[in-house]
Amino acid sequence: MEIENSTSGQVKWRCPSNIALVKYWGKYGRQYPSNPSISFTLSEAHTTTSVSYEYSKEKLEDIHLTFKFEGESKPAFENKIKKFLDSIRDVYPLISHLKLDIESSNSFPHSSGIASSASSMAALSMCLLSIQKELLGEDNLDINQASNIARLGSGSASRSVYPEIAAWGQTEHVSDSSNDYAVEYTESIDPIFKSFHDDILIVSADEKSVSSRAGHALMECNPYSAARFQQANDHLGIIIKAMKEGDLDTFGLIVEKEALTLHALMMASEPPYILLEPNTLNIIREIQKFRSDNNVPVYFTLDAGPNIHMLYPHQYVTEVATLKESLRSYCVNGKIIEDKVGQGPIKL
Ligand code: PMV
Repeated sequence: MEIENSTSGQVKWRCPSNIALVKYWGKYGRQYPSNPSISFTLSEAHTTTSVSYEYSKEKLEDIHLTFKFEGESKPAFENKIKKFLDSIRDVYPLISHLKLDIESSNSFPHSSGIASSASSMAALSMCLLSIQKELLGEDNLDINQASNIARLGSGSASRSVYPEIAAWGQTEHVSDSSNDYAVEYTESIDPIFKSFHDDILIVSADEKSVSSRAGHALMECNPYSAARFQQANDHLGIIIKAMKEGDLDTFGLIVEKEALTLHALMMASEPPYILLEPNTLNIIREIQKFRSDNNVPVYFTLDAGPNIHMLYPHQYVTEVATLKESLRSYCVNGKIIEDKVGQGPIKL
């Protein structure tokens, strides 16, 4: 490393969350995905992270770090980040020469039912890459490296460093795809998909009974895993074709099948478990009925939890507003977070 003097500075990034259309579920080795996935980058649900850094010429034995979340010290988070930073010394050698003060905040309240790992790991990674750019005098921020580092923190975070649509995992359906990092999907997608809304219906804001980490691990012994990994790859090919052709029906079919398959895999794990709530099913039924009664392309998807992501193109906002109001009674305190496809990280 060619850095002569002690140097210090501050960087700040805002990074969004994302919602997978074809889901990553199951991993191997050092956080590699067992199947490829593709997602919409969101806009309103985001994490803002600022990092003050001090470079020291001599190599530091320990990770030097303070961490504040929304203005308060959080020793548990701080330890997690320390461990994470310690684990990426090989892919981010600069870390052995940095003292960091990190401050982070989310646009959505803690325990709102929205997972923050994708946006927070992506924001931290963008900060680390900005520091590298400043210290090494690089011309451009290496976005693939940022995605790779985000992946090591949380798999789905690898997709949050790109605008609009991102794909992660090696597949013949996406050129330049990789298991190490996600890529932005830029090939001639019908503009209607870039106008999509994602209303997040909060059925429960409670902590999940089984974490995503544990869920991924259970895929190792799931009797359906081999067929699932093949299916996800096939779904990726089908959904990309549908998005290129503006085929909303096929898009919706795959998105809903993916959501239900994700939860079916949980129910078929050893031990089996259920993260869906009665109101998740009530909402699913109402969305399907509204779609067929009114011929409006509105679809649901799910993360590894009970909350519904309701997806529809911008031109149907007025029609869907009626449905949305009728679904509020199924949500905790009537809570719906209104999001949409977004433009990716912003340097502040
Ligand atoms: O990134 P993780 O380890 O939290 O796993 C995320 C898994 C899903 O959200 C269920 C699917 C996905 O691809 O985002």
